[in-house]
Amino acid sequence: MTERTLQERARATTPGGVHSNVRLSGPQVFIERAKGPWMWDMDGKQYVDHLLGQGPNFLGHSPDFLVEAVAAGTRDGLIFGGQNPLEVEAAERVLECLGWADMMRFASTGTEAVQAATRLARAHTGRRKIIRFEGQYHGWLDNVLVAHDGSGWTTASAGQIATHLDDFIILPWNDTESVDAAFAEHGDEIAAILTEPMMVNSGAIVPKPGYLAHLRSTADASGAVLIFDEVITGFRVSLGGGARLFGVTPDLATYGKAIAGGFPVAAFAGRADIMERLASDTNHSGTLNANTMGSAATIAALDHLSTEDPYPSLAIHGQTLIDAIPRIAAEHGHQMSAQGLPAAFHISFGSAHVTDWRSLQGLDLAQYREFSHHLVEHGIWVTDRGVWYTSTSHDDKALDAALERFETAVSTWKGAA
Ligand SMILES: Cc1ncc(COP(=O)(O)O)c(C=O)c1O
Repeated sequence: MTERTLQERARATTPGGVHSNVRLSGPQVFIERAKGPWMWDMDGKQYVDHLLGQGPNFLGHSPDFLVEAVAAGTRDGLIFGGQNPLEVEAAERVLECLGWADMMRFASTGTEAVQAATRLARAHTGRRKIIRFEGQYHGWLDNVLVAHDGSGWTTASAGQIATHLDDFIILPWNDTESVDAAFAEHGDEIAAILTEPMMVNSGAIVPKPGYLAHLRSTADASGAVLIFDEVITGFRVSLGGGARLFGVTPDLATYGKAIAGGFPVAAFAGRADIMERLASDTNHSGTLNANTMGSAATIAALDHLSTEDPYPSLAIHGQTLIDAIPRIAAEHGHQMSAQGLPAAFHISFGSAHVTDWRSLQGLDLAQYREFSHHLVEHGIWVTDRGVWYTSTSHDDKALDAALERFETAVSTWKGAA
């Protein structure tokens, strides 16, 4: 089967030839197989993968222990409309890894987990408004999907009902004053502050010292719920996610991606007094929640992370890339920036000091968008928005390949067209 035929068949059967709009701007390449940090396309071309399926393949592609655990876990049934022992074990494992949360529920996507958390916050406080932040992504549904139209934040999709965004107050991130001002004006209407603990979705920006603690104390003072959206950071930046790494405990948090090593699982967790409402007056449902595939994958993935502790070696790998990329680019006459954490960092052209979505626009993001396709041509699998992920399977061979291929790509880069 040639790649061209597949493209034609995909476009004939599926709008844009893709099953998630996020992939429309990504590499239009069909992957035949993947293992560890490597992927191979239909022509046999090899890539070192720094996209990792947008984050889920935190253990690398299809590790044997994970695939075998899922095969064993699904042999005697998939979903029952009742409970099974694996889901209890998986829930215990999640709570053990997080350390701070009393209770959790499984969901199927990060988008749903965010909806459940915001609903719980509203149920708990009896308030409507939710503070969120410029440049953060919380899923594709009407009440969270936004884009900047040049003058302000608005709907991002045809068919989206604009009034569903009315109860969200969108503020610049890493800025305590705007949060204080919003609480001064709307304090008794604010149900929750919803934030990525590290803003991976726009620039892989880490919180300023004291920023998350300020959100914590501001929420406490007003009785609002602090929600960390850890769909990317959960189990990735540390076993306990951003909450553990940055030392600030939320009331609720959402998880997905790395939680099950690439199998489709999401979750949310939090304080018992808030979570317990799901057993009485607050609805969260889902036919496929806590199926045996997802539970087995979660147990195997989290057991691996707990027992192997791959975080220190992953930190060395990612930091080597963060340090080397701007240096190699400079040797070939290009100014490039790299920032973030070894497990999730952001690459672009330019040198702006980036602390939020607005200052991120000071980088030459447009040039990187074009360059990302050049990187893919040179065997580094990334997308155009500049976020690079590292997996626990990235070894020295993958590092050498990434650095060599990056150097060839940047040395032949003539600048944006
Ligand atoms: C921070 C964050 N929250 C929520 C989501 C939505 O998760 P999903 O794509 O699984 O619905 C994403 C997806 O990238 C995300 O990055």
